[in-house]
Amino acid sequence: MHATHAKRRFIVLSNRLPISISRNENGELSASQGAGGLVTALAPVLKNRGGMWIGWPGTNEEGVAAMCRSFSREAGYFLQPVSLTEAEVEGFYRGFSNEILWPLFHEFQTPCNFLPSYWEAYCTANEKFTAAAAAATTNDDFIWVHDYHLMLVAKMLKETGRTSRLGFFLHIPFPPADIFLKIPWRRQLIDALLDYDLIGFQTLRDRHNFFEAVKRIHRGAVRKGRGQVVTLTADGRTTRLGAFPISIDFGAFVQKARRVQNQQAAQEIRAAFDNRFLLFGADRLDYTKGVPQRLDALRSAFEHYPELRGKLCLIQILVPSREEVPRYRAMKEEIERLVGEINGRYSTPGWAPVHFVYRNLPHEELIAYYMASDMALVTPLRDGMNLVAKEYAACNIRETGILCLSEFAGAAMELHRHAIMVNPFDWDGVGKAIRDGVFMDAAQRRRRMRAIRAVVRRYDIFWWVDAFLEAAFSTHLEDFPQNEAAYWADLEQNQGPPWDVAPES
Ligand code: G6P
Repeated sequence: MHATHAKRRFIVLSNRLPISISRNENGELSASQGAGGLVTALAPVLKNRGGMWIGWPGTNEEGVAAMCRSFSREAGYFLQPVSLTEAEVEGFYRGFSNEILWPLFHEFQTPCNFLPSYWEAYCTANEKFTAAAAAATTNDDFIWVHDYHLMLVAKMLKETGRTSRLGFFLHIPFPPADIFLKIPWRRQLIDALLDYDLIGFQTLRDRHNFFEAVKRIHRGAVRKGRGQVVTLTADGRTTRLGAFPISIDFGAFVQKARRVQNQQAAQEIRAAFDNRFLLFGADRLDYTKGVPQRLDALRSAFEHYPELRGKLCLIQILVPSREEVPRYRAMKEEIERLVGEINGRYSTPGWAPVHFVYRNLPHEELIAYYMASDMALVTPLRDGMNLVAKEYAACNIRETGILCLSEFAGAAMELHRHAIMVNPFDWDGVGKAIRDGVFMDAAQRRRRMRAIRAVVRRYDIFWWVDAFLEAAFSTHLEDFPQNEAAYWADLEQNQGPPWDVAPES
């Protein structure tokens, strides 16, 4: 351990805490691990290393702080809730984050709603997160801010006089400059981002897009260096830009896939589908994921290759998300309509082509589906990374599965040589890829899957965190103290650490 880093804590800020809190039928608050790639990515790291996660618990229910404290003990790191008023949730989260940044960064321009009040709410909410971070940290701590919701935090923290090292990682794509520049507050966003010591992107393409956008705003911007991390000087400030493709805890997935219960569950799934060729899709309900297009591709496969009828089933898992945003509700209805249409058209006694599940699956069940499936359809229209592709490969310990991957997923950067690559907008092309998968011989399946697994095994979540920490803070995972007994004793005794922030009314 490097002595100079011994007292430095690892602090994570993201819009959401990595738990979702709800009230059960008996009126009691309960917490469960939340959905989304970020949680999958950081929970194991924080668990191993100790630290604090500051974020919105998703509710203003009384007792949330106590719930966070008890969950902290269970999780192995401290959770610090930031409460948001209903107006802030509306303007900052549903508005600016979900109706401007999310569609625009994924290159969907039509659903954008550039309301000035959304921008004001975005600033107010970023101030709130900044205040929580300022109260909870010292200048020695490393602060790692995540995602598009919190782009202003470094700038705001610096305005309070804070000198902590600040890293930022964007989990979603950064769009081409011509699209980004449509945002009325583009200059404020770029200038705020330049206050981070390191800005991490999923791919080189995202980093390139960001640099192009900076150049359009600051004509004299220059980039120096080559490789994973480069230096950017713009507007008299110097920061670093890096590409860090996020990943998964490969070893943990392999271990689960080796469990006898999961292998049995996978066999039961296969038997339930009469050992047909199983296609598998698992997505959060979102228009970026390309689920309707995937269903169109399946229909195209049945039309062009009638020999596939009766031979294969698509298991499509859809995890409920952002249902309060109208576009998401409409998407769910469209998917249900398409599933009904396809099943209505092709089903025969004992066979329905699409098995549709609309709920948050328990983790073990998802693993069993990964293991049971012959081919994963990971066909987003645009995606920062897509961890389903990597999880599917990790669980495929028998190396018999096929990964069909969209060119527009960040994961394509690493896996394009070994996956079946498709343009998700080309239904006939995806239909043909499905057919190719059904007839792919065992040797080719194995060769491709082995190569994909080698990439994911090597560049796993621990590599990702380590690479980012090294670039952002010149430190490594092992430099962070393990959960210290004194820290946890203090937490128990005071019912909260000394940096506890009172929830805002
Ligand atoms: C994506 C984003 C995350 C977000 C997650 C779930 O993975 O990158 O920042 O938390 O979606 O979306 P939600 O709006 O429910 O937080």
